[in-house]
Amino acid sequence: MDLSDINMASDQSFIKKLTHERLKYYLTPSDHNYEAFSNIVEIGLTSKPKFLLPQYLYDEKGSKLFELITEQPEYYVTNVEISILESSVNEIADMYNEGILVELGSGNSRKTKVILNALFTRRDSLRYFPIDISHKILEESSEALLKEYQNLSITGVVAEYNKGITLIKKDTPSRKLVVLLGSSLGNFNPAEAKKFVKMISDNIQDGDMFLIGLDMHKDSNILNAAYNDSRGITAQFNLNILERINLELNGNFNSEKFEHHAFYNESKRRVEMHLVSKVEQEVNIRGIKEIIKFKKDESIHTENSYKFTSEQIENMIKESFQIVKIWTDKKKWYSVILMTPIK
Ligand code: AVI
Repeated sequence: MDLSDINMASDQSFIKKLTHERLKYYLTPSDHNYEAFSNIVEIGLTSKPKFLLPQYLYDEKGSKLFELITEQPEYYVTNVEISILESSVNEIADMYNEGILVELGSGNSRKTKVILNALFTRRDSLRYFPIDISHKILEESSEALLKEYQNLSITGVVAEYNKGITLIKKDTPSRKLVVLLGSSLGNFNPAEAKKFVKMISDNIQDGDMFLIGLDMHKDSNILNAAYNDSRGITAQFNLNILERINLELNGNFNSEKFEHHAFYNESKRRVEMHLVSKVEQEVNIRGIKEIIKFKKDESIHTENSYKFTSEQIENMIKESFQIVKIWTDKKKWYSVILMTPIK
């Protein structure tokens, strides 16, 4: 088993919490998260080669570090995506002038605001459903948006995307614009990404829309720089998963004995992130009752970030969606794609 074999889905139930007349949340019970995390750490660190799942990079500190990554000059992804959105969003808003906005991954409100601004020039009120696995991030971004937009009501869903989207389908029959930005789909393996796209299509209706941003295949020097920023923020983001294991599962990782290693694997068209053990060592994780042995230079594979070609995009979506329009930047580094489901 390796990183690409694990399905990110898991079963969970929800608790509803109302905090303001325009803000409510659906929460996942936290004991379930503990169990899921400890299971995956046990499976991943006792496998050969060792791996961890990228969704666990995003605890509170990891989510903050990711926000910082998006501001690094080498990590072009966010800025290029925002500039494409700015030039396409009016066209999108013209095509989608009623119904709710669902965002998978609420993290960076900079992009959300670009979309909200355009939608609000065409209507008086809007219901926004952000879905995120980090409660804290969801709370912070929702509260800020609530203050800024007086006619916005928010239902935050603390969950993995597939659970969140099925919940929203049950919650409201309204038309939906579902957005998945930041090339998040690139963190799934290709088979999983195709299944995920199909799952979205199955959970929305005729006339609904799906908007995704995807990072394109490009020169490996640009990609290697993007995942090895000079301030070492990506390295901190990657290493933080060891701190998370220490905190949540009572482990004794010394993150100074591991090194961030990220590179573009051109044949698989993905940037791989690893944590490489600088020395031979043993780590005790009490929460999973395991002692994990590392050889010098042995790695833990923590993330894949797939980069796309137009053919791959077409292949990934053609059974579930019909493309309405694709926008890209001058260098063709990034694509924003608007689609409707095939029913
Ligand atoms: C969230 N995701 C699309 C980012 C990416 O580029 O794969 C996460 C990330 N990992 C390292 N840098 C950024």
